[in-house]
Amino acid sequence: MRLTVDGTEHELDVEPDMPLLWLLRDELGLHGPKYGCGIAACGACTVHLDGLAVRACQITAEEVEGAEVTTIEGLGTPDAPHPVQQAWIEEQVAQCGYCQSGQIMQAASLLALNPAPTDAEIDAAMSGNLCRCASYPRIRAAIRRAIQSEGA
Ligand code: FES
Ligand code: FES
Repeated sequence: MRLTVDGTEHELDVEPDMPLLWLLRDELGLHGPKYGCGIAACGACTVHLDGLAVRACQITAEEVEGAEVTTIEGLGTPDAPHPVQQAWIEEQVAQCGYCQSGQIMQAASLLALNPAPTDAEIDAAMSGNLCRCASYPRIRAAIRRAIQSEGA
Protein backbone atom coordinates (compact mmCIF):
# COMPACT_ATOMS: atom_id res chain seq x y z
CA MET A 1 0.00 0.00 0.00
CA ARG A 2 0.99 3.65 -0.46
CA LEU A 3 0.64 6.21 2.26
CA THR A 4 2.04 9.68 2.81
CA VAL A 5 3.00 10.37 6.42
CA ASP A 6 4.32 13.73 7.57
CA GLY A 7 5.07 14.64 3.96
CA THR A 8 6.99 11.47 3.10
CA GLU A 9 5.50 8.86 0.78
CA HIS A 10 5.82 5.25 1.89
CA GLU A 11 5.22 1.96 0.18
CA LEU A 12 4.36 -0.60 2.83
CA ASP A 13 3.70 -4.33 2.88
CA VAL A 14 1.26 -4.71 5.76
CA GLU A 15 -1.90 -6.65 6.52
CA PRO A 16 -4.96 -4.71 5.26
CA ASP A 17 -6.58 -4.83 8.69
CA MET A 18 -3.55 -3.52 10.59
CA PRO A 19 -4.65 -0.49 12.64
CA LEU A 20 -3.11 2.76 11.46
CA LEU A 21 -1.72 3.25 14.97
CA TRP A 22 0.30 0.02 14.67
CA LEU A 23 1.46 0.99 11.20
CA LEU A 24 2.70 4.37 12.42
CA ARG A 25 4.38 3.11 15.58
CA ASP A 26 5.67 -0.32 14.59
CA GLU A 27 6.30 0.01 10.85
CA LEU A 28 7.39 3.65 10.65
CA GLY A 29 8.77 4.19 14.15
CA LEU A 30 6.61 7.23 14.83
CA HIS A 31 5.92 7.01 18.55
CA GLY A 32 4.13 10.33 19.05
CA PRO A 33 0.66 8.79 18.61
CA LYS A 34 0.02 6.77 21.77
CA TYR A 35 -1.96 3.63 22.54
CA GLY A 36 -4.38 4.36 25.34
CA CYS A 37 -7.59 2.36 25.03
CA GLY A 38 -7.77 0.87 21.54
CA ILE A 39 -11.52 1.52 21.37
CA ALA A 40 -11.74 5.21 20.35
CA ALA A 41 -12.46 6.24 23.93
CA CYS A 42 -9.38 8.26 24.95
CA GLY A 43 -7.91 10.19 22.01
CA ALA A 44 -4.27 9.38 22.80
CA CYS A 45 -3.77 8.03 19.26
CA THR A 46 -5.19 11.08 17.45
CA VAL A 47 -3.58 11.98 14.13
CA HIS A 48 -4.78 13.91 11.08
CA LEU A 49 -6.09 12.01 8.08
CA ASP A 50 -6.31 14.33 5.07
CA GLY A 51 -6.36 17.20 7.56
CA LEU A 52 -9.01 15.94 9.96
CA ALA A 53 -8.49 14.49 13.44
CA VAL A 54 -9.08 10.74 13.58
CA ARG A 55 -8.40 7.96 16.06
CA ALA A 56 -5.58 5.92 14.57
CA CYS A 57 -6.50 2.87 16.66
CA GLN A 58 -9.80 2.58 14.79
CA ILE A 59 -8.69 2.98 11.17
CA THR A 60 -7.15 0.17 9.16
CA ALA A 61 -4.30 0.25 6.68
CA GLU A 62 -6.62 -0.45 3.76
CA GLU A 63 -8.80 2.52 4.75
CA VAL A 64 -5.86 4.92 4.46
CA GLU A 65 -4.53 3.69 1.11
CA GLY A 66 -3.30 6.76 -0.78
CA ALA A 67 -4.18 9.17 2.02
CA GLU A 68 -2.10 11.81 3.77
CA VAL A 69 -1.50 11.33 7.47
CA THR A 70 0.05 13.88 9.79
CA THR A 71 1.35 12.93 13.20
CA ILE A 72 2.64 15.16 16.00
CA GLU A 73 6.11 14.60 14.51
CA GLY A 74 5.02 16.31 11.30
CA LEU A 75 2.84 19.09 12.72
CA GLY A 76 5.75 21.44 13.33
CA THR A 77 9.46 21.41 14.05
CA PRO A 78 11.46 22.48 17.10
CA ASP A 79 12.51 25.59 15.17
CA ALA A 80 9.09 26.26 13.69
CA PRO A 81 6.43 24.79 15.97
CA HIS A 82 2.79 24.82 14.98
CA PRO A 83 0.95 27.67 16.80
CA VAL A 84 -0.82 25.08 18.96
CA GLN A 85 2.51 23.48 19.91
CA GLN A 86 3.94 26.91 20.74
CA ALA A 87 0.93 27.73 22.91
CA TRP A 88 1.28 24.36 24.67
CA ILE A 89 4.89 25.20 25.53
CA GLU A 90 4.01 28.68 26.77
CA GLU A 91 1.19 27.37 28.97
CA GLN A 92 3.33 24.41 30.15
CA VAL A 93 0.33 22.13 29.58
CA ALA A 94 1.88 18.69 29.90
CA GLN A 95 2.15 16.79 33.15
CA CYS A 96 3.03 13.13 32.42
CA GLY A 97 2.61 13.94 28.72
CA TYR A 98 1.02 10.67 27.62
CA CYS A 99 -2.18 12.20 26.25
CA GLN A 100 -0.64 15.38 24.92
CA SER A 101 0.17 14.53 21.32
CA GLY A 102 -3.45 13.49 20.87
CA GLN A 103 -4.66 16.65 22.59
CA ILE A 104 -2.50 18.85 20.36
CA MET A 105 -3.57 17.07 17.16
CA GLN A 106 -7.23 17.38 18.16
CA ALA A 107 -6.81 21.10 18.97
CA ALA A 108 -4.93 21.78 15.72
CA SER A 109 -7.70 20.11 13.75
CA LEU A 110 -10.33 22.15 15.58
CA LEU A 111 -8.59 25.45 14.81
CA ALA A 112 -8.04 24.50 11.17
CA LEU A 113 -11.78 23.99 10.81
CA ASN A 114 -12.88 26.81 13.13
CA PRO A 115 -10.23 29.47 13.81
CA ALA A 116 -12.32 31.24 16.48
CA PRO A 117 -14.25 28.62 18.45
CA THR A 118 -16.35 29.51 21.46
CA ASP A 119 -15.58 27.94 24.84
CA ALA A 120 -18.48 25.54 24.27
CA GLU A 121 -17.11 24.59 20.85
CA ILE A 122 -13.66 24.00 22.34
CA ASP A 123 -15.13 21.80 25.08
CA ALA A 124 -17.19 19.84 22.54
CA ALA A 125 -14.24 19.30 20.20
CA MET A 126 -11.89 18.25 23.00
CA SER A 127 -14.37 16.14 24.98
CA GLY A 128 -13.14 12.85 23.53
CA ASN A 129 -9.51 13.45 24.53
CA LEU A 130 -8.97 12.28 28.09
CA CYS A 131 -6.19 13.37 30.41
CA ARG A 132 -5.61 11.35 33.57
CA CYS A 133 -3.46 14.20 34.91
CA ALA A 134 -6.43 16.57 34.53
CA SER A 135 -4.56 19.17 32.53
CA TYR A 136 -7.87 20.37 31.07
CA PRO A 137 -7.68 24.00 32.34
CA ARG A 138 -4.21 24.41 30.78
CA ILE A 139 -5.37 22.75 27.55
CA ARG A 140 -8.18 25.30 27.23
CA ALA A 141 -5.80 28.15 28.09
CA ALA A 142 -3.35 26.97 25.44
CA ILE A 143 -6.07 26.75 22.80
CA ARG A 144 -7.17 30.29 23.69
CA ARG A 145 -3.54 31.43 23.44
CA ALA A 146 -3.15 29.78 20.01
CA ILE A 147 -6.30 31.51 18.81
CA GLN A 148 -4.96 34.90 19.97
CA SER A 149 -1.54 34.27 18.45
CA GLU A 150 -3.21 33.67 15.10
CA GLY A 151 -5.25 36.88 15.49
CA ALA A 152 -8.58 35.09 15.17
S1 FES B 1 -6.00 4.52 21.77
FE1 FES B 1 -7.20 5.31 20.15
S2 FES B 1 -8.76 6.44 21.16
FE2 FES B 1 -7.66 5.49 22.80
S1 FES C 1 -0.72 14.87 30.89
FE1 FES C 1 -0.81 12.91 31.84
S2 FES C 1 -2.53 11.95 30.89
FE2 FES C 1 -2.58 13.96 30.14
